[in-house]
Amino acid sequence: MREITTNDVANSVKNGDCIAFGGFTPAGTPKLSASAIARKAEEEHAAGRPFKIHVLTGASTGDSVDGVLARADAIISRVPYQSDSNIRNLINGGNVHYCDIHISHYAQQVKQKMFGEIDLAIVEAADISDSGEILFTTALGVAPTFCRHAKKIVVELNEYHPKKIRGLHDIYETELAPHTRPIPLVTIRDRIGTETIKIDPAKIIGIVRTNIPDQVKAFSSSDRDTDRIGEHIAKFLSNEIRSGRILPPFPIQSGVGNVANSVLKAISAETSITPYTMYSEVLQDSILEAIKSGSLLFASGAALTMTPECLGEIYDNYDFFKTHLILRTQEISNHPEIILRLGLVSINTALEVDICGNVNSTHVLGSNVVNGVGGSADFARNSQISIFACKSTAKDGKISAIVPFCSHVDHSEHSVKILVTEYGIADLRGKDPRRRAQEIINNCVHPDYKDLLGKYLSMASGGHIPFSPANAFKMYEAFASEGDMRKTNWNM
Ligand code: COA
Repeated sequence: MREITTNDVANSVKNGDCIAFGGFTPAGTPKLSASAIARKAEEEHAAGRPFKIHVLTGASTGDSVDGVLARADAIISRVPYQSDSNIRNLINGGNVHYCDIHISHYAQQVKQKMFGEIDLAIVEAADISDSGEILFTTALGVAPTFCRHAKKIVVELNEYHPKKIRGLHDIYETELAPHTRPIPLVTIRDRIGTETIKIDPAKIIGIVRTNIPDQVKAFSSSDRDTDRIGEHIAKFLSNEIRSGRILPPFPIQSGVGNVANSVLKAISAETSITPYTMYSEVLQDSILEAIKSGSLLFASGAALTMTPECLGEIYDNYDFFKTHLILRTQEISNHPEIILRLGLVSINTALEVDICGNVNSTHVLGSNVVNGVGGSADFARNSQISIFACKSTAKDGKISAIVPFCSHVDHSEHSVKILVTEYGIADLRGKDPRRRAQEIINNCVHPDYKDLLGKYLSMASGGHIPFSPANAFKMYEAFASEGDMRKTNWNM
């Protein structure tokens, strides 16, 4: 295979091209090519010429793609999930067209050319053969689909990752309807696909050699509130097992971030839940100790999003860890059919929740996007129990995470079964909207907001849903005018 430089990559890209980057989170994301494309954009802009690209990724990427391209103002549009502050500012400023879609729907839409033709796919590999066989690194995401559908491919061959990880991946690609078939995955350990993919070597314009770890940062350590959330969830699951409603070992899906780390820590310490398994999207550092201690039997995900220290430990003890891990394409890690069949317990983070149980995961005060819906809806809608967790307040207590009526809804009341804050758990199952509202106010709301929300509920009399149009958004108004939702003044 021909070796090329990153300048060669940049020179193959034209203004208006659609570039698809492999990886999922910083895991498996190409490390160098986007910087060269960003430099070219800056040079073209300095010369007064337009230069911007459409960017497709698996999910978030880290600085090596979203950060460098956003800072060079080189992005026309971006799909799907992102979590980079540079690109977030461009999106919320109206300067990047951001299309946020369910992770499970994405491969299908790429195949349907919903985002146009892919001019170039740039993917990271641990190995590549002359015949075009690619061994991916720490994520599969949607990279196999990108490779199938791109006109040209660049492979960043990252020697940081050992070739012995062959076997970590299980690549299964679905067909478009009406050629779809049942997906033959019935336990989380099942292998249904291939370890590598084989693509036409004529499409590969070259290889860029790298030796760079994934840019995964450690999450800030958990705090008292996230630990309490974790403990509430562990206790709830333990009660569910005792009551016979769920049978162990059940697969857990856990979102990303500090709440997720605290939850896994608490679950791993609860002997009535362990051992458990994971069928998730992002596998982060917290799974390492859980696997070593024997509390986590097996983990399936789309990405190993681990700090270099934790990933190093896995590579150093690969013979042990390879029997506990598998990476799948994101259309399989998040597939509704499989999530439903396996009976997942999903745990995701909410930005805000309303008293009826609708959840906003994406838009602050209904307008500015934070990250995107990612895979949260794939799991929430199809799990046997979908749990949403968040701290009861934001912005030093000036915002209540629980409001009368969500400013934006990603997960409707019909998908949200359990809500958890540091104050406790609201079990919304089998309850009508008014009983749900009472349960949430009693168990999850911060003491500063309990009376306020209780008053709203009593004002919103009549109807099936407790909704008082005149008062529904008053808490937002109080934040906009007084800088504090506690100063809300209802129309009595
Ligand atoms: N109202 C207004 N702003 C709020 C808020 C609320 N109710 N809750 C949080 N915020 C603000 C925070 O203050 C913070 O702002 P800052 O960046 O200016 O400090 C920002 O929103 C992010 O909040 P934070 O608490 O740091 O978020 P997090 O790291 O816990 O992530 C989500 C929470 C919801 C953004 C994140 O979990 C996510 O992207 N979820 C969707 C995708 C998903 O669930 N994927 C998992 C499937 S595997």
